Amino acid sequence: MVKNVTLDQIVSLCKRCGFVYPTSEIYGGLASSYDYGPLGTELLRNIKNSFWRYFVTNRSDIVGLDSQIILHPKTWEASGHTTGFVEPVVEDTITKRRYRADHLVEDFVKGKEKFKDFVVEELDTKGLDGFIKAHNIKSPDGNTLSVSKFFNTLVETKLGVLEGKKNIAYLRGETAQGIFSNFKNVIDSTRIRLPFGIAQIGKSFRNEITKGQFVFRTVEFEQAEIEYFFNPGESRWKDLYKDWQDQMLRFVTETLGVDKNNLTWRRHTDRERSHYSRETYDLDYRFPFGYKELWGIAYRTDFDLKSHAKYTGVDFSYTDLISGRKFIPHVIEPAVGINRVFLMILCDSYKKDVKNKRLYLSLKPFLAPYKVAVFPLVRNNKEIVKKSREVFNNLKGHFSAIFDDRGNIGKRYFAQDEVGTPWCVTIDYDSLKDNTVTIRDRDTTKQKRIKISELKNFVLFNI
Ligand code: GAP
Repeated sequence: MVKNVTLDQIVSLCKRCGFVYPTSEIYGGLASSYDYGPLGTELLRNIKNSFWRYFVTNRSDIVGLDSQIILHPKTWEASGHTTGFVEPVVEDTITKRRYRADHLVEDFVKGKEKFKDFVVEELDTKGLDGFIKAHNIKSPDGNTLSVSKFFNTLVETKLGVLEGKKNIAYLRGETAQGIFSNFKNVIDSTRIRLPFGIAQIGKSFRNEITKGQFVFRTVEFEQAEIEYFFNPGESRWKDLYKDWQDQMLRFVTETLGVDKNNLTWRRHTDRERSHYSRETYDLDYRFPFGYKELWGIAYRTDFDLKSHAKYTGVDFSYTDLISGRKFIPHVIEPAVGINRVFLMILCDSYKKDVKNKRLYLSLKPFLAPYKVAVFPLVRNNKEIVKKSREVFNNLKGHFSAIFDDRGNIGKRYFAQDEVGTPWCVTIDYDSLKDNTVTIRDRDTTKQKRIKISELKNFVLFNI
């Protein structure tokens, strides 16, 4: 079994099988933007559903929210994003193309023994410029670079019906601010009491300029964020924080089935930590381009609620039912990008089975875009085709299934293995006599016969 997968292999699989396409490909593409095809859409949906089931539906202390992408522009002043949401950028002095200064330095030190303890996050813009100069780092086109400047990544838009009278607004840079601004609404309209969380899954936008990391870092992406509010006088933040780290790791390894050996925790340095956070760790995954952030967890204290209170005059304090004491709750925030989870799952499940000369995705069945593929053994037998259609129609109402009568059976297995379909069902001559079919397991390639009447429950039981 070949374990290590390259990013090129993932990109090629995604295009070939309908997981991911470059956005606006017919116009030459759009930087750091990707569309999800039929199979990618199913996988994304399955990831989001499992996140929601695990962290919201299964619990009584977390509720959901779906706020707008465009919020009142003052939100982003209060949150500190209009000033603090910045990345260091350098320009190629000839082509005028822009690059993240820290990413160029990171690429330069990668794999060099001399820099094995080097932490790029420790450098400010001056430090980055000094390093670039000292090591004569050039742009990917081989040209000299400008000095670095901070660049705000909030995506601006304009609202208003009259030309010249439009107001600047922002596409949200994180889903979290919709949660903070609805904190009082949720308290006042539900029975939820501290400690409790508010979860939201939705699109966020950042003016990213990175290239070549596929869906890892894009302009438009989906976040799944939880703000977990608590009384700092009652709960020790360090205990809650540790507990949340355990939950995140359990979800990734036990629920999503990702190999523990490909995950590691990394603590943010003081310089790197966001302006709102007292402590941040990243759960990093070993992507084909190295260990990179999958999921962050920050202790945002009462920074956001206090700041929104200051800007709006709204009282965000919470009254403890027993003691009657008023205080501003503190918050711990686990925040993950669904598209990064998507990429991680594809990388982690990509298997080359040399013995059987095939490639397959060892996806957990609940994640697989199709749970079952139904094949007629031959295309020229009307009875077999009719029965196959009946079986397919009966299954597809209960879970995602696909009918395939192209090529030979071997090719059909090959195509389904490649997209991670856990079971393939073949209707053959015996099926006409005894109402049984063969069912083949993706991972073992073993086949067994099963009654058609038992198929649906077999799959439902195993997903
Ligand atoms: N509310 C906190 C916050 O937004 P973040 O570390 O900037 O923190 C949280 O983002 C998660 O969102 C990251 O761990 C990552 O998974 C995902 N993410 C951030 N920027 C992204 C981008 N440009 N493309 C894809 N995912 C991104």
